[in-house]
Amino acid sequence: MHNTRNITENIIWIGASDRRIERFENLFPLSHGIAYNSYLILDEKTALLDTVDGSITDQFLENVNHTLAGRTLDYLIVNHMEPDHCANIEALVRRYPQVKLVGNKKTFQFFNQYYTLDITENQYLVSENDEISLGKHVLQFHLAPMVHWPEVMFTYEKSEHILFSADAFGTFGALSGNLFADEIDFDRYFLDEARRYYANIVGKYGAQVQAVFSKLPLSEINMICPLHGPVWREQVSSIIEKYQLWSTYTPEKKGVVLAYASMYGNTENAVQKLASLLAVRGVKDLRMYDVSKTDLSYIVSDVWKYSHLVTASPTYNLHLYAKMANVLEDLAALNMRNRKVAILGNYTWASAAKKGMETIFSSMQNMEVLGSYDIKSSPKDEDLAYLETLSDTIAASVFEEPQQ
Ligand code: FEO
Repeated sequence: MHNTRNITENIIWIGASDRRIERFENLFPLSHGIAYNSYLILDEKTALLDTVDGSITDQFLENVNHTLAGRTLDYLIVNHMEPDHCANIEALVRRYPQVKLVGNKKTFQFFNQYYTLDITENQYLVSENDEISLGKHVLQFHLAPMVHWPEVMFTYEKSEHILFSADAFGTFGALSGNLFADEIDFDRYFLDEARRYYANIVGKYGAQVQAVFSKLPLSEINMICPLHGPVWREQVSSIIEKYQLWSTYTPEKKGVVLAYASMYGNTENAVQKLASLLAVRGVKDLRMYDVSKTDLSYIVSDVWKYSHLVTASPTYNLHLYAKMANVLEDLAALNMRNRKVAILGNYTWASAAKKGMETIFSSMQNMEVLGSYDIKSSPKDEDLAYLETLSDTIAASVFEEPQQ
């Protein structure tokens, strides 16, 4: 059965959700599934904005068929040529052989890399600021390279001021009938997942997000339609403000994330003690993670949120413990910057973890090291003295941070 919702009189959401999926991109855990959005505009001409993942093809094609109600499809706008959104292009070209596929040079390059169907006759090449009139609706195209792939475009519908933003403004999490962010307790149920999505999927490309924002009439936008998660029609500025912080690597909140690796509990013991010392000094909302237990995407997300990061790890095989190396190398790969950090190493017969963490942080921009220290095997009184001093330093630094 078809399952669609109008987002305006003549623009219809025709997406669906997948709750069976375990991991997005076979990498990021999804406890509540994910939505794949697609939008169909009915005007003198018809235009579809992106398709969906192969997991929901049947629902999607039924929605297309129902919504077109016998009309043909004139345009398929391909804002993003990643398989979770382009899996059904071939099926649509076969159904509507006259359809114009609207994309840029990279779009068609990637199509030909993924698929074998000859779309030479269907290609409709656009570049920055090009427009297509559908009748009342006018689509204007803005290239958004590396947000988060090179072919990404945003499409701005000028008559109703609607931004079709590809993956930007998306979130993990399936939709449950409520399509609009204002129909949901977004901050409770989606904000953490929106941040985890941003940090891990788009986070590396903050400069590119800022570049495309500079081309858009942000204050005029009435509605944001991302490819994943809820549609924004009220308080649009609230999610734009989050993106302004996230894409400039600006902490949302003063606070401390403590991420540790621990083989026998000794490093964990030191971090637990440090956390207690910070709490006694008035630091609230401490976030502590065992990197061997918590998927790194959640840790990365909290590092995006908070101003300070403590990492603690034993040496293993004369190297930084692999799970900690994974977290820190991922943060470096994502271009994380502008945080204050402290380092606790631990070793029994050779020290390498402390140096390993220092090296990774030094490769990142504006990561101020507030302290770096090695524990020998298990924390003792002389270590407690250092932890006391470190907690004084971190707490003072936290309270110096401007409140967001
Ligand atoms: Fe949702 Fe970049 O694909």
